[in-house]
Amino acid sequence: MSDDYDPAKDSYDSFNLCISSLRERLEKSKVVIGDCTLYNEDCRFILPTLQRVDHVIMDPPYEGEAHNPGRRLNGNTLELKHTRVREIHAAPLDFDAMTPDLRSFIGEECGRLSSGWLLAFCQVEAVPLWREAFAAGNAAYRRAMIWVKPDSSPQLSGDRPAQGYETIVASWAGRGASIWNGGGRRGVFTFGKHDAGVGHGGVRVNAHPTQKPIALMSDLVTLFSEQGNTILDPFMGSGTTGVACVKLGRKFIGIEREQKYFDTACRRIREAYAQPDFFVSAPEKKPEQVNLF
Ligand SMILES: C[S@@+](CC[C@H](N)C(=O)[O-])C[C@H]1O[C@@H](n2cnc3c(N)ncnc32)[C@H](O)[C@@H]1O
Repeated sequence: MSDDYDPAKDSYDSFNLCISSLRERLEKSKVVIGDCTLYNEDCRFILPTLQRVDHVIMDPPYEGEAHNPGRRLNGNTLELKHTRVREIHAAPLDFDAMTPDLRSFIGEECGRLSSGWLLAFCQVEAVPLWREAFAAGNAAYRRAMIWVKPDSSPQLSGDRPAQGYETIVASWAGRGASIWNGGGRRGVFTFGKHDAGVGHGGVRVNAHPTQKPIALMSDLVTLFSEQGNTILDPFMGSGTTGVACVKLGRKFIGIEREQKYFDTACRRIREAYAQPDFFVSAPEKKPEQVNLF
């Protein structure tokens, strides 16, 4: 080693190299479409680099048991009466289930980033886990809402009731009392899960195995945010939340790790800008506040 070796300069240079390679990776993963910024990356890498947003609306992976083929049925319920039960193909999901570490990270990071609501889809068994994770990010639990799915699969084993709904945890990370646009309305949303991929002319376009119906996401965006707000979805899948944001005049930041779903999200968001009435029209009027007392 030469006499003029300077360890301080060496560590400064290494630090700068590391930062510039991280910046490069960040820029490479980013696509901007109108008011939407989309990242094709692991959200654990992106979230710490973001500025505050108005609200977080997310549909993260569910618990391990929901990824199990035994609980999943990819067929259309309407076809069941013509199909013998043992012939139905149940496919496992092609992305990883939620883990305790990921949930803790998301709870803290999204609590830090949101100036308002944190909404997370989950199975009912995970409501207390998400409530706790958001509380660790200083967000106060407000309600677990219900998405009722009238066309969900029957219980094929016949030994217990079928699961006909999913839950949405709503916690408030803002200052003061929580506010939403639903007044005294119930947090119950009824939309067929097979409406998720219905696009132009009623043609079904299955963009993602757990794609949410655009009408459901539009209701949530309308009720929990204002025009011009920025909504973050760290698990955007095929970008349904982003499509709702485009239709309803919100800005959107979406993150998706899998290339094929990211590409689909980019395509759907471009189409949403190109064809304003393709999937859904914005509600003409805000829901009215109901005076209960
Ligand atoms: C339940 S799906 C979202 C579906 C979406 N709501 C839609 O309508 O298409 C969750 C998505 O999160 C992605 N994902 C899982 N872990 C991730 C991570 N650490 N960072 C970014 N995306 C992740 C999965 O690839 C999957 O597409």
